[in-house]
Amino acid sequence: MIIKDIVVREILDTRGEKTIEVAIADEDLRAFYAQIPSGRSRGKSEAAVLGMAAAENAAAKIERAVQGVDFKTVEELDRRMIEMDGTPNKEKLGGNVMLGISLAFARALAFERKVELWQVLNEEFFGGKVSPVRPLIFSNLINGGKHAKNDLPIQEYMVVVRPRGSYVKTVGKLMKFYEVLGEALRRKTGEEELPLGDEGGYAVNFEDAFEPVQLMADLIAEHNLEDQFRLGLDAAASSFYESGHYNFGGLKLDAATLRKTYEDWFAWAPGLLSIEDPFDEEKGADFAALRKALGGFAEEKLVVGDDLTVTSEALIKKYAGEGAVNAVIIKANQIGTLTETCAAMSAAASLGLKRIVSHRSGETEDNFLIHLARAAGAEGVKIGAPHESRIGKYNELLRLLPDEMI
Ligand code: PGA
Ligand code: ZN
Repeated sequence: MIIKDIVVREILDTRGEKTIEVAIADEDLRAFYAQIPSGRSRGKSEAAVLGMAAAENAAAKIERAVQGVDFKTVEELDRRMIEMDGTPNKEKLGGNVMLGISLAFARALAFERKVELWQVLNEEFFGGKVSPVRPLIFSNLINGGKHAKNDLPIQEYMVVVRPRGSYVKTVGKLMKFYEVLGEALRRKTGEEELPLGDEGGYAVNFEDAFEPVQLMADLIAEHNLEDQFRLGLDAAASSFYESGHYNFGGLKLDAATLRKTYEDWFAWAPGLLSIEDPFDEEKGADFAALRKALGGFAEEKLVVGDDLTVTSEALIKKYAGEGAVNAVIIKANQIGTLTETCAAMSAAASLGLKRIVSHRSGETEDNFLIHLARAAGAEGVKIGAPHESRIGKYNELLRLLPDEMI
């Protein structure tokens, strides 16, 4: 496929902040689009995000370089861009611009081949093997950290919902639980209007960082959902780490004390399944110590890398090798091309890690992450609360992972 034209335009994300949309045109001047989400609690090693002026320049450079080239695969185009950029973090061409082009091009290929986007990715990167796995839904219902204005150090309190029977029913149960939690929080705070965080979860104040876990665990038990609902946390701990200690609910904790705190939480709440970025993103050894400590439970507990591993094949291999993680977050814009994202997913799978394909806190109408999850047979998707800004992700999930896959 020959790319005739590349256009970058500024659009708004769900926070009302600027991000980009990329359009590419094929030889018939048919346009294909990709919108790029935007993170607020980014890992230090993530691909660079270019602002509008620099993004336009980068797109113009790439457009000139690909003139007349007939790319047969996504990888051919991605390799060309990676070579042109030549920096470890995509500083010259921008991860946002490169991913936009990579994704819009994959959509152009899907059109040409009369298949869905996920099928293009599945064929090219996952050997055409279609997995019967339907991902767990990680849904962030209470927001803290950088995503909210409340006092919670922990960024995300999630329910982790196992698809059981019809996916429509499963998502329906999640919607209902989100409402029930809202009612409980209205009673607790006495407020009619609950503030929401960036990902649609409730953003009220709590007595301490453990109270949301207790509250959700109690509600799960009260509504007899224990067989299907677990809990997950994203500490995003780099955001409260400061020169050797963690600022945690008014206390200054060292890593060992914070680890002990987490261990107690897992012991007290048997439904707690996972914790993402429990320590600063440069402290792999502390992740490994926690993983070891959580090894004694009957159900395998997940220590998840996000800022630690930034969808990088190399970092995933490194930290899996050190025993730091047994699951990873996958965010295409952390690494900047579909080729590298899929390589990271394949590496993770071959190391036995669970892969959770994730949105960003600043989202767009683009639902490509569900296609990525379907293509790779991911074990989880992390898509925020079932609230207006994330509904498109839920609907794409219902469309792409139909009940007959059971
Ligand atoms: P971000 O954070 O999208 O704001 O970077 C999400 C996360 O830490 O999982
Ligand atoms: Zn995270």
